[in-house]
Amino acid sequence: MREKLQNILTEALDAINSGTDLEQIRIKYLGKKGELTAVLRGMGQLTPEERPVIGQLANDVRAKIEEALEGAASAFKAKQLEAQLKAEKLDVTMPSTRAKLGHHHPLTLVQRRLEDIFIGMGFSIVEGPEVEYDYYNFQALNIPENHPARDTQDTFYITDNILLRSQTSPVQVRTMEKQKPPIRVVSPGRVYRSDALDASHSPLFHQFEGLVVDKGITMGDLKGTLESFAKTMFGENTRTRFRPHHFPFTEPSAEVDVSCFMCGGKGCRLCKGEGWIEILGAGMVHPFVLSNCGIDPEEYSGFAFGMGIERIAMISYGVDDIRLFYENDARFIEQF
Ligand code: PHE
Repeated sequence: MREKLQNILTEALDAINSGTDLEQIRIKYLGKKGELTAVLRGMGQLTPEERPVIGQLANDVRAKIEEALEGAASAFKAKQLEAQLKAEKLDVTMPSTRAKLGHHHPLTLVQRRLEDIFIGMGFSIVEGPEVEYDYYNFQALNIPENHPARDTQDTFYITDNILLRSQTSPVQVRTMEKQKPPIRVVSPGRVYRSDALDASHSPLFHQFEGLVVDKGITMGDLKGTLESFAKTMFGENTRTRFRPHHFPFTEPSAEVDVSCFMCGGKGCRLCKGEGWIEILGAGMVHPFVLSNCGIDPEEYSGFAFGMGIERIAMISYGVDDIRLFYENDARFIEQF
C-alpha cells in the first residue's frame, strides 16, 4: 500500500510537470472516484497499527499533489498574464499617424487680419446683434421711414420694427449709446440683404465697421487711418483715393479705392483695367447721428467706415465668385 501511494504521488507529479490538463489530473488522483480515494477505501484491510501510518502517508500524498496542482495553476496564470502584457504593450517609440489639422476659413483669415491691423492702431473690437431694431439699422443712422436709402439695402423684416441687420453700422449707434468718447472701435459681423445669390451677391455676407469719435477728429484722421490700413493690408506701395459719395449717416461721405496691388495701377484683370479697386465706404459721422446717441456734435466729431469682408477676401485671394465662400467645397477652402 505504501508503494501504491508512492506510485500515485510520482505519477501525479509527473503528469502535473508534463503540463496536461490540471483539472483532469485533480479528478484522476484526488476525485471521489480517484486513485487516492480507491487506496483509502482499502484501508479497512489494514491492521490497527498500520492504519494511522498509512493514513498519515495518504494525507501527505494528497497534500503534496494539491500543492503541486496549485503551484502549476499559479505558474500558468503568471505566464498567461505575462503573455497578455506583452501583447498589449505600447511601443511609444513607434512613429504615429499624424492627426489631420483643420484650418481657418478664408473669410475668418481676412477678418482676423483686419482685426489685427486695427488692434495695432489702438482700436478695440465690439459686436452687435444680427437681429436688430429698425431704429438702430436705419432711424438712428439718419435713414427715416420712406427714405430712398432703404431701397438700396433690401432688408429682411421679421416684424414692422425688427429686422436682420443690413449693415454693421447699427453697432456704431449701440456703441455711442453705451460709451462716451474717446471711442475707437471696429465691429466685424454678418449682415443680411434680400439679394438673389449670384457671383457677386449673397443674401448673407460679412462687413467690418470702424468708428472713431473724439474732440477734434477730422477728415485728415480718416484719410490717415485708412491709408495706413491700406498699406499694411495690400502692400507698402498702395495708394489711396477718396471719391465723393453719399451715405445718410456720414457727411461728407466718400468711397475709397486702393491702387491695384496686382498691376500697381497700370490696369489689369483684377482691377478691370481701372488701376483702382474700390474697397470701402466712409465719412465723417453725421451730426444728427451723434446727437441721436447723446453725443454733442458741437463738442465731438468722428469718422466711420465700413467694408465687405468677402470683397476684401475676393480681391486679396483673386476669388471671382462669392458663392465659393459658402459652399465649403474642400477643394476650394483647402487652398487657404
Ligand atoms: N454701412 C455702409 C454700407 O453698408 C458702409 C459705411 C459704413 C459707409 C460706415 C460709411 C460709414 O454700405
